[in-house]
Amino acid sequence: MKISFSKAGVPAKGAVIVTAFSNRKLSPSAAEVDEASGGAVTRAMANSRFKGDKGQSLEIVAPGGTSLSRVLVMGLGTASKLTDLDIEAMGGSSLAKLNGAGESQATLALDPIAESRDAGSDAALAAFGALLRGYRFDKYRTKEKPERKPTMKSFTVATAANTSAKKAFDELEAIASGVFTTRDIVSEPPNVIYPQSFVERAKALEKLGVEIDVLGEKEMKKLGMGALLGVGQGSTRESQLLVMRWNGGAKPKSKGKTKSGGEAPVMIVGKGVTFDTGGISIKPAGGMEDMKWDMGGAGVVIGLMHALAARKAKTSVVGICGLVENMPDGNAQRPGDVVTSMSGQTIEVINTDAEGRLVLADALWYGQENYKPKAIVDLATLTGAIIISLGHEHAGLFSNDDALSEQLTESGKAVGEKIWRLPLGDAYDKAINCDVADMKNVGNRAAGSITAAQFLQRFIQKDTPWAHLDIAGVTWSSEDKPSIPKGATAFGVRLLDRWIADQYEK
Ligand code: BES
Ligand code: MN
Ligand code: ZN
Repeated sequence: MKISFSKAGVPAKGAVIVTAFSNRKLSPSAAEVDEASGGAVTRAMANSRFKGDKGQSLEIVAPGGTSLSRVLVMGLGTASKLTDLDIEAMGGSSLAKLNGAGESQATLALDPIAESRDAGSDAALAAFGALLRGYRFDKYRTKEKPERKPTMKSFTVATAANTSAKKAFDELEAIASGVFTTRDIVSEPPNVIYPQSFVERAKALEKLGVEIDVLGEKEMKKLGMGALLGVGQGSTRESQLLVMRWNGGAKPKSKGKTKSGGEAPVMIVGKGVTFDTGGISIKPAGGMEDMKWDMGGAGVVIGLMHALAARKAKTSVVGICGLVENMPDGNAQRPGDVVTSMSGQTIEVINTDAEGRLVLADALWYGQENYKPKAIVDLATLTGAIIISLGHEHAGLFSNDDALSEQLTESGKAVGEKIWRLPLGDAYDKAINCDVADMKNVGNRAAGSITAAQFLQRFIQKDTPWAHLDIAGVTWSSEDKPSIPKGATAFGVRLLDRWIADQYEK
């Protein structure tokens, strides 16, 4: 779908989107349409429940006295209370309505909303919402009837601030490209995305200036990454460790090449289990297909690197993905096996389905040894227990650093990716002590998401600021949201992009 910006004004034909506020207060453009149509908008409002409240909408098909195919009035509620996310949601919801109605082209006539708001950035936000909602993963649907497919080809925002809108939108478009990379790779079936094919997708980022390093099983064995390798040993697909570097920060002062390209980078680490059967501790059959998105954390890392490169972020970030397939097999890891991680710490594998933490243990350690990051965030679809705790509304946040926790929470609020902090502590850490090895990979049933995070913390060096996001409940959505079609959400890309922009590029 093509998105563009034009001069302010209501078009003479096609579909038009206008806005209204609480108590049926029409925006100037809505009032203009009302007048041109001999009061069709006013009459439609009088005959419906539409009050102009936030989230409401009203559709008038082919109003008389005009050549318009459709007028869509979007409610915005109280102007002074609107947030960026509300404007984005309005743009996204309007696109969904028009796609459902069969329109191919539409103009959003967006008047300045309030003194306190920037008209250019509002126009860009509405367009961003439409762009994000317009995403669809349908490459494997060969028989879908044309009348069932979305129809919108072109979405224009008409605003007096069209020049500044275009500029603001360029940056948002870069972020959307990252979101789409994540949604694409997370949506792909597990026979298509496996560790090596995941790496191939990452290589597409090289042309944007992202540096890529890949370790295969041989290299990882040499480094002693027994925790990650144990998870993948039942799979015919070779495990991979993928490193992506965006060197947008200060260049190194000396000529000697450092791996991070100068200043200490921020490090983002993702769980990339391309399919999680549970291994020998096999999962029940029902719903197992969901485990194709057990690489959601790694999917966020690749999309984030895309976004950072596309908008030429002015800081250095290293993204690391631990990529494995967890399969039962004659060669698979057994409950009771003891593995030695790259850190030297030994782990008794009690449950082969608690595999994500094993993968992350070595990916985190490798990253710290090689890049000495100033802060670490990991993302993982780590535990079913986090869905029991927080449902699909918040991701779980676990951290050794209060300031980092607050920063991430604020960034999440700003972009609509909410996170909620849960505690860590010695009493929880004890649950993974073990008689056979340095630790075991599961606690008892209690506080499953916390004991998983405690496990990860044992692989964080010298209190480096670290946060773990358990995204098991938010990586996939079973319902449409205003700017997120159901399916892969890419939760985390926008949050981390915003966090990096606010904390490291200002
Ligand atoms: N990938 C799963 C967690 C998960 C569950 C993600 C549901 C998304 C939706 C993880 O590897 C897992 O199997 N965790 C186990 C841990 C248990 C064995 C301690 C779980 O949550 O049951
Ligand atoms: Mn598992
Ligand atoms: Zn898993």
